[in-house]
Amino acid sequence: MSISQLARSIEPSPTLRMNEEARLLRQKGEPVIHLGIGEPKNKAPISALLASAAKLNTGEIKYAPTSGIPSLKKAIVRYTEENYGRLVSAENVIVSGGAKQSIYNLLLSIVDPQDEVILLAPYWVSYPEMVKLAYGHPVVVTAEDGSFQPSMAEIERAVSSYTKAIILNSPNNPSGVVYSEAFVASMVDFCESRKIYLIMDDIYHKLVFDGVKAPSAYSFTKKDVDESYIIVTNGVSKLYGMTGHRIGWVVGNRKIIEAIDTLQSATSSGPSVVSQAAAEGALTGVQSVVEHLRLTIQNNRDVLMKELRSFNGVGITCPQGTFYALPDFRAYSRNSVQLAEMLLKKALVVTVPGVTFGMEGHLRLSYAGTVKDVTEGIKRMKWALDPNAPNEIFIGDRKLVRDWL
Ligand SMILES: Cc1ncc(COP(=O)(O)O)c(C=O)c1O
Repeated sequence: MSISQLARSIEPSPTLRMNEEARLLRQKGEPVIHLGIGEPKNKAPISALLASAAKLNTGEIKYAPTSGIPSLKKAIVRYTEENYGRLVSAENVIVSGGAKQSIYNLLLSIVDPQDEVILLAPYWVSYPEMVKLAYGHPVVVTAEDGSFQPSMAEIERAVSSYTKAIILNSPNNPSGVVYSEAFVASMVDFCESRKIYLIMDDIYHKLVFDGVKAPSAYSFTKKDVDESYIIVTNGVSKLYGMTGHRIGWVVGNRKIIEAIDTLQSATSSGPSVVSQAAAEGALTGVQSVVEHLRLTIQNNRDVLMKELRSFNGVGITCPQGTFYALPDFRAYSRNSVQLAEMLLKKALVVTVPGVTFGMEGHLRLSYAGTVKDVTEGIKRMKWALDPNAPNEIFIGDRKLVRDWL
C-alpha cells in the first residue's frame, strides 16, 4: 500500500483521537468526564433551525454558488459592518465548509512552496498541518518569558523574506488569551509596512469575559479591504453552537477571494444550501443567544479557576475568552501526552496534551461542558496526581485505582 509523502507528513488531530478514545470508553459504559471538547453544549438558535427546515421543505436542495448563497454573503457583510464597523462588499466574502476549510483554502491561495507562515505559540493545532499541506513552512514563535504572548520583537526576529502571513487567533485556542489593542495595532502596522498578510482567526471573538473586548485589526487601518493585508476568518461553529453545520467564511481582498473561489470550485464546491440557510438564520436572528452562551461559559471559567487555584503546583493564566484554559502541569510531568493518557486511563478524564499546541508540560482543559463536568473532572485530576490521596475511589460502583505514582 503506497501512501503519499504529503499525507504521511501530516499529524492526525490529537483532539479527535482523544475524543474517539473517550467515545469508545463511554460506549463501554465508563463514567468519562470530557474536558477535551471543542464545542459548546447549546443547541443551534431557533432561527437557524427554522431557516434550514424551511429550506429542506422546498425540496430544492441543489448545488450552491461556489462562494456561498447571496443572502448568506449579505448577512456576513452586515455582520462585518455591525461587529467591525467595516464596510465590505459581497465580492470580499467567501463561504466554505467550516472555518477550518476557510483557513485551509485561504492558505492554499496565498502560500507558495518555501513560503513561511508565522504562528504564535500556543497555536491552534491545525495551523501547522494546514501550512504544510499548502507546501509552506510553519514558523513558531514562543515567548521567551514563558507567557502565552510573544512580543513584537520576538515576532519581528522570526520574520524573513519568505514570510507570507502571520496568523493571530484572539481570543486564543488553547490559552484563552486576548491580545491587547497595542499589540494588534503594532501587528497591523508591521504587516502592512512589510506586505505580509495578517490572518485574524476570529472564531471566538465574542466569547470574551469580564468586559474585555477582542480588538479588531480593522480598527488600526484606514485602508480599504481591497488594499489591506488584513484577512478575517470566522464561522458559526463556536458562537452559535453550530459545529455540525460546517459553515465558515473569509473576508478579504477580492483577488484572494476569487482565488479561493476557483480553488473551491475545483474541490468541494459551495457548502450545503441547508447549512448555509441555517447560518443565515443564526446571523440574522436574535443575537442574545450568543450573549447567553458567553455568560454560561464565563461562569464555567470562574468555577474552573476556583478549582485550579486550589490545585497544588499547577500554574494558571486566567483565560479572558474562548472556552479553554491551558494550565501548567510541569510540576507533575514534562510529558503532556503521557500525562493526558494517564488521566484518561486512571481518572477517566479527557484533556488535550499541550505539546500539540506548542506548549509542552501544559494540558488544555475545556469548560464548554457543564459546571459539574468541570468540578468532577478537576476533583478526579487532583486525586490522580496527589501522592497522599487514597489509592482507590468509587464513582458510583466503578472503582478507580491510582497505582501509577
Ligand atoms: C482557533 C480555531 N479556528 C478555527 C476552527 C475551526 O472551526 P470550524 O469548526 O468552523 O471548522 C477552530 C475549531 O476548533 C478553532 O479552534
